[in-house]
Amino acid sequence: MSDLSALESEIAAAVAQAGDEAALEVVRVGALGKKGSVSDLLKTLGSMSSDERKEKGPLINGLRDRVTGLLAERRTALKDAALDARLAAERVDVTLPSPESALGRGRVHPISQVIDELTTIFGDMGFAVAEGPDIEADFLNFTALNFPVGHPAREMHDTFFFNPDANGERKLLRTHTSPVQVRTMMSQKPPIRVIIPGRTYRCDSDQTHTPMFHQVEGLVIDKGSHMGHLKWILEEFCRSFFEVDNVKMRFRPSFFPFTEPSAEVDIQCSRKGGEIRFGEGDDWLEILGCGMVHPNVIRNCGLDPDEYQGFAWGMGIDRIAMLKYGMPDLRAFFDADVRWLSHYGFRPLDMPSLTAGLSV
Ligand code: DAH
Repeated sequence: MSDLSALESEIAAAVAQAGDEAALEVVRVGALGKKGSVSDLLKTLGSMSSDERKEKGPLINGLRDRVTGLLAERRTALKDAALDARLAAERVDVTLPSPESALGRGRVHPISQVIDELTTIFGDMGFAVAEGPDIEADFLNFTALNFPVGHPAREMHDTFFFNPDANGERKLLRTHTSPVQVRTMMSQKPPIRVIIPGRTYRCDSDQTHTPMFHQVEGLVIDKGSHMGHLKWILEEFCRSFFEVDNVKMRFRPSFFPFTEPSAEVDIQCSRKGGEIRFGEGDDWLEILGCGMVHPNVIRNCGLDPDEYQGFAWGMGIDRIAMLKYGMPDLRAFFDADVRWLSHYGFRPLDMPSLTAGLSV
């Protein structure tokens, strides 16, 4: 039996030495595994005489039970030690101020903010958002909008053209969001009530022009839509967008090939000390073009102008963003300068809403 106690001390020493759970598992397999030293001893019981088994059985089984106990005890101790070490290493001082998260540091670009504001206001009036591609066919950007081929109005758009394709067709970067009016009328049945925010392109660059800029188009087509509705929508929009109780607007006759009659809209402002304020003063500032959709355009889109009529408007998003938030140079919008963005940008979780405020 001294063999048994020697084996027991050997196993006990190995258990005590095991520094982690993996090492302890090796010891367990060596003793109690299929071919372990204690398992081998248990196997010998079968071939013993009953007297011998009576004597050795309790000794060997006792050894197994004690080894099992030692292993379990050591495993618990190792687990506790590992947890203590982790708790010490990953100590958190809950009294420290919380660091600003990446989400808190990021800023929403004023253009994205203004698009969110626009869609919130027009969404509330029942408008859906429509979109179209930046690379457009000449037909949709010009011809379908009643720009006759060779008409000088095409030249006024400073268009970026692509090289002609195999069929001789020259695609272009859309010069306005108006081609999406055509796409919408061609694909939806009236009543139509959409706004179309998006990127537009013209070969032009100075303090208030960049080759890529943004517009938002509005389109309403139904049986009885008229200029009175247009005026109300635009007034309501300006009041809401510029967050003032009353804005005076002035509709000046103008010309666009795709509207008849056409108008440009100025809003009342004051320009004291170089600062523009809306809803007061006796100055005027032009903010958009609009009109009744030309019967030719309605016809070009496959609708009957004797049955349907409506109105449209187009507005520079960058321009109204500059006006609302007092940003003097449009080019800075697209410089990707983090200092500019952290000054003029918006906190991502302050989503514009009509109830909480558009520009909190
Ligand atoms: N597409 C015009 C432009 O870029 C803006 C415009 C004027 C759009 C009148 C309209 C409109 O829908 O009715 O200059």
